[in-house]
Amino acid sequence: MNMEKLMLANSEKSERIYGSAKELIPGGVNSPVRAIKPYPFYVESAKGSRIYDVDGNEFIDCCLAHGPEILGHNHPEIRKAIEGQLAKGWIYGAPVESEVKLAEKIAASYKSIDMARFVSTGTEATMSAIRLARGYTGKDGFLKIEGGFHGAHDAVLVKAGSGVSTHGEASSAGIPAAFTRYTFQAPFNDIESMAEIIEKRKDELAALIVEPVMGNAGPVPPEPGYLQELRKLTEENEVLLVFDEVITGFRLAMGGASEYFGVDPDLVTLGKIVGGGLPIGVFGGKREIMEMVSPTGPVYQAGTFSGHPCSVAAGNAMLELLKKEKVQEKLNRTGDKFRSDLAEIVEDKKPEYSVSGVGSLFKVFFGKKPRNYRDTLACDQDGYVKFFHRLLKSGVFVPPSQFETNFISSAHSGEDLEKVLEAYKESL
Ligand SMILES: Cc1ncc(COP(=O)(O)O)c(C=O)c1O
Repeated sequence: MNMEKLMLANSEKSERIYGSAKELIPGGVNSPVRAIKPYPFYVESAKGSRIYDVDGNEFIDCCLAHGPEILGHNHPEIRKAIEGQLAKGWIYGAPVESEVKLAEKIAASYKSIDMARFVSTGTEATMSAIRLARGYTGKDGFLKIEGGFHGAHDAVLVKAGSGVSTHGEASSAGIPAAFTRYTFQAPFNDIESMAEIIEKRKDELAALIVEPVMGNAGPVPPEPGYLQELRKLTEENEVLLVFDEVITGFRLAMGGASEYFGVDPDLVTLGKIVGGGLPIGVFGGKREIMEMVSPTGPVYQAGTFSGHPCSVAAGNAMLELLKKEKVQEKLNRTGDKFRSDLAEIVEDKKPEYSVSGVGSLFKVFFGKKPRNYRDTLACDQDGYVKFFHRLLKSGVFVPPSQFETNFISSAHSGEDLEKVLEAYKESL
């Protein structure tokens, strides 16, 4: 799609800033998912369900920083918690009591978490969880879902489509073949393929890591019974089950997708919401496994910014609010209604398209409802980009690609959601 300007009333300042950005920062952005063509809008501020750009445009935000802002932007209680920490200094190189309080809340929310270690990003959390699984089991291989995203570290950046039970091929330049040799993949929602590879390779496989709801080629929810089958298969074959709940953690329920779908993995990775919108990652699980982490055990893991006092303060405030206000219960109900209204619009305007999601996660797919990554890939991705620009013009911001999940927050009012539906109707 060749566009010279964003389809907004005014975008001169954004265009000018991007002119400098692209000379100084690769692609002008600090994460490729922000690379809107011909240039991104630059944010001035955000509050509640709204995000405002430097040219005076206002959007209803259904990107929500790719997940963390479940209460909407700039929530006063979370801001207060961060400011409270700032007043006392913000990094010490020595522990603070609030990190213990956050660990307590996490362990109380997740049946499968006795102990947790804090890191700075979801990427670090999955990298550490995989290392821990390898250290605990003494096996090198691990299995992931085709098209599943677990951050940007070497072992998980493997191409989709190399076929069940073959060794992974890196999806990025700069990754030695040896680093993905132990990464195996199977398609989502396909228990036969999973059983085949697990049974064949159980002596090599330390873990299966899976997003319980595929969020980076989705949302694609698990089919009924799928996660339960994964639990059974992994248990029977002595392969650890790792739920990557960086997106679903504290979104679907206080106990995330584990609670929502009633399956307890061996390890869980968290990020996004658990830091209240500040950088964080967490990996946690049963005591016996977690005690393998240094300094108690031989699996090394460390970080200057791990358990940052500001992230921990924001996380504590976030989890308290979520629990006190029963946010997820309400939001899941709002999400169900919203997706059903959206499905009616799609059925009317574009019956060949579909609406997918669960709880407060949603997406219109420009193709049939996906069961896995390959189905998502078959959607009309160029068409989706055009649609993204029309939505933006109508005042709704969603992630710019067919692959990224959209979210709603507790700050979205009924009126906001009506406007979003109206924008979908116009833009489709
Ligand atoms: C499921 C999942 N795992 C891991 C990550 C990586 O987290 P981060 O971007 O904080 O490194 C993401 C990021 O979107 C994610 O969605």
